[in-house]
Amino acid sequence: MNQVSAIILAAGSGSRFGGKKQFKKLNGSPLWTYSLEAFIKSNCFQELILVVSKESINELQNSEELGKFSKKISIKLVCGGSSRKDSVYNGLKLVDKNNNIVCIHDSARPFVKQKYIKGVIDACSEFDGSIVAIPATDTIKKIQDGIVELTINRDYIMLAQTPQAFQKDKLLHAIKLGLNIKITDESTLMELAGFKIKIISGDSTNLKVTRKIDWELAKIIESEK
Ligand code: CTP
Ligand code: MG
Repeated sequence: MNQVSAIILAAGSGSRFGGKKQFKKLNGSPLWTYSLEAFIKSNCFQELILVVSKESINELQNSEELGKFSKKISIKLVCGGSSRKDSVYNGLKLVDKNNNIVCIHDSARPFVKQKYIKGVIDACSEFDGSIVAIPATDTIKKIQDGIVELTINRDYIMLAQTPQAFQKDKLLHAIKLGLNIKITDESTLMELAGFKIKIISGDSTNLKVTRKIDWELAKIIESEK
């Protein structure tokens, strides 16, 4: 029987967005609460670890929203680091030792579907880990100094999203091996360590709010729910 911890990442600075998008209110609720709602609703987790920056931790700790969520599931709040990997690592340190699966999610992805949460966790029974991903729709070029080197066959390209779930011990091993590698998702470390990662098909509404234009998309998706 799988015992699962969720790590929700909310410690970024939002440099491309121009501010901490995870705390901005969408339809009256801070963006980070969307992911928490979905994760709690899934009933897949023994505990939830919310990673936030040092500057935000006090405010979050005292927030009405966190108080409400804490009545439904054990929530651990922890300070993130300057890189995503540091934030994940700080979260991993708090994972209950009895839990064997870790499911990582960007709080900047508010529209995560239940089938993705359950899909990546279930796949960990057969594979070392699993991620949600969508097919690339643009044509992909490998470039060097502003010049095209080659075009990569799009049929073999997918764009990674979260949630991403991994067998905990394997992820810890992969992180130790990849201490000096800069990453934008945890699957990268697992792949480099030779582990097998299963793809779960996502969709473009599971978007990450990254730039200002994504906020406009998020408003549309929210209004059509
Ligand atoms: N994140 C984190 N700790 C970091 C960096 C990122 O917890 N040191 C989180 C962000 O809060 C976000 C998720 O990881 O929910 C995805 O990252 P991204 O969209 O890159 O957010 P930011 O790093 O905040 O944005 P940017 O890269 O534009 O600065
Ligand atoms: Mg970032």
